[in-house]
Amino acid sequence: MKAKHTGLTSLIIALQLIFCVNMVHAQASNPVNIPDTLHGPVFDLDILDTTKQFFPTGSLTKTYAYNSDFLGPTLMLRKGEFYEFNVTNYIMTDTTTTHWHGMHISSANDGGPHTMIFPGETWSPEFTVLNEATTFWYHPHLHHKTQEHINFGAAGMIIVEDENSDTLRLPKTYGVDEFPIIIQDKTFGENNQLAMERVGDSITINGTLNSYLDVPAQMVRFRLLNASVSRTYNVGLEDSSTFQMIASDGGFLNTPIDLTRLMLAPGERAELVIDFSNYAVGDSINLYSFNTELPSGVQGGASGPYSVNYNLLDNLDFTLLQCNVQPATADPVTELSPVLNNIDCWDENIADVFRTKIFSGGMNQVFFINGDQFDLNLVNDTIKLDDIEVWSLLNSTSEAHPFHIHDIQFCILDINDNPPPPQLAGWKDVVLVEPFSEIRFITKFETFADTIIPFMYHCHILNHEDNGMMGQFIVKREIATSTSREPISNEVTISSFGNLIQVKGQGTVSIYNLAGQKMQRSILNAGDNIFTFESGIYLVSVLNSDGTTTEKVYLAE
Ligand code: C2O
Ligand code: CU
Ligand code: CU
Repeated sequence: MKAKHTGLTSLIIALQLIFCVNMVHAQASNPVNIPDTLHGPVFDLDILDTTKQFFPTGSLTKTYAYNSDFLGPTLMLRKGEFYEFNVTNYIMTDTTTTHWHGMHISSANDGGPHTMIFPGETWSPEFTVLNEATTFWYHPHLHHKTQEHINFGAAGMIIVEDENSDTLRLPKTYGVDEFPIIIQDKTFGENNQLAMERVGDSITINGTLNSYLDVPAQMVRFRLLNASVSRTYNVGLEDSSTFQMIASDGGFLNTPIDLTRLMLAPGERAELVIDFSNYAVGDSINLYSFNTELPSGVQGGASGPYSVNYNLLDNLDFTLLQCNVQPATADPVTELSPVLNNIDCWDENIADVFRTKIFSGGMNQVFFINGDQFDLNLVNDTIKLDDIEVWSLLNSTSEAHPFHIHDIQFCILDINDNPPPPQLAGWKDVVLVEPFSEIRFITKFETFADTIIPFMYHCHILNHEDNGMMGQFIVKREIATSTSREPISNEVTISSFGNLIQVKGQGTVSIYNLAGQKMQRSILNAGDNIFTFESGIYLVSVLNSDGTTTEKVYLAE
């Protein structure tokens, strides 16, 4: 009897211990920041080198931000509208870029690593929104610097609305029953300065530590964005009650789906609707991340590659955001539209091309895609405009990798031969490929061809991306192989060796750099023309004497 009693006592102590270790439950003290909204048709974005007071006392933290002291305004766009942007880099000590993550725009407007904004300079892309209503984001994308620039706070949300979202019954008043929820984990080092860690030990929501949000006692929509360096979140309500998911990266799901957990990897977005009318006014309910339940190999989980006390949040279920239930608004949404979208994906039987991307490596956090490291001067894939392609992502490493591709949205065909679960059955531009898994997606590369500026694909774990887990592709109207010394018309031959590009023949030759600037123009008279370039990618365009144009991309080494 005594022994039994001791056993029971130690069981209770053990349970209490587990409870204490697994639940971090502090009273939130800071009202969550709700980023301002910005409307077009012209968006002025200033990338600032600034500071923010994260803690009630002590040093200011050095940050980067768009138009603010941390993160940036939410850009409000509408499908079919044309917008202009002026993005000025006020970080006087560094070059950067600004990429519109998830949007279907030309590579010249996409803001990848090639489209640099030098200190003090303004970049002015312009485009018409072709995507349907959803949540995107913007962030720097300079090679080797993406982790640093995003970690210091340069990122913001983009909301697209369209005729469909206008008619749907959904919570849709920003800051009232619809909220941006940008999740980032941070590590604050000496003097409150942000450290360059792969996973942080402090959660910020929209840049606020230890945050709470007043929510009305009704259906509330959260636009979640995981803008963390590498941590995946396993989002749910503290009491594990059901919520609805209505949208994934690129648009609405076909119908709302019921979930109690949603895994959100770096770069991914999801729109959730939580019904706070199930709680009493005055109650607090926490949005949690149940990271003890993450599958093995997923960053930030119980058995992730950084687990076992890599930092204070690993191996834990922790609070993302405390929601304080307030009285409902005058006219709350009480029921969602049962049909949200009509996604009709391509059938793989009509695919033009199948590609495989194998992830390998792992030593010192260096990973490869098909054996290659990112090389600014190497175009990894050339894709024909309007082709439908199936990509197979094969992860041969023991870490999970959130694969992201620019230009397009894709549909997942299967995950390890099984159809995707409903939360992954909508439009996607990021997908988490778990260790030793295979995911196949289908997409169509339409609208934008550019023979000179590539689009990117990469792992959205920022240190993996910066370490070279990235490739680039060109979308072309016509595919002709572009090896050196190959004649490009019957009149003109172009060859390249080292940093020399030699053009022979008759015609007018123009050479452009990656920014689309004309570097050289000259008339050929059957003789040789030799151009010397700094290393980089150039477009050589020849106006032949019969009036036709021949274009080719050349690499100067
Ligand atoms: Cu979110 Cu290539 O980026
Ligand atoms: Cu992107
Ligand atoms: Cu990765």
